[in-house]
Amino acid sequence: MTQWVRACARYDIDTEDLIRYYHDGRTFAIHRSPGDKFCCTDGLCTHVEVHLADSLVMDHVIECLGLDGQFDNRKGEPKHASARDLLQTCPVQVTGDDVLIGQDGLKAPAGQVAVECSLTDRSR
Ligand code: FES
Repeated sequence: MTQWVRACARYDIDTEDLIRYYHDGRTFAIHRSPGDKFCCTDGLCTHVEVHLADSLVMDHVIECLGLDGQFDNRKGEPKHASARDLLQTCPVQVTGDDVLIGQDGLKAPAGQVAVECSLTDRSR
């Protein structure tokens, strides 16, 4: 059974925008698409370690400001240009005004070392 972690309030994120979310030494991006659709992805672009919270959200597409790569924020699929590798996604649930992230998605994939806190601090 999925365990859920409260990440933020629904109104902490404007429509077609995203915020950074830190959990257990890793960085994520929580996106709000039109129609109050919330998605959560890894916080760093798969092309170069640029934080996606500085990116643009248009409908369900994130445009990375690093080199204009694009990803679908629901499945993490690369859509354009430099973005070639799948972006990790996490399950999201909205309960009342709370945006909850599925704990399983917040764990580092097998073989991947969690991002050190110092790296997330550096990316501010
Ligand atoms: S850094 Fe994101 S597409 Fe290149």
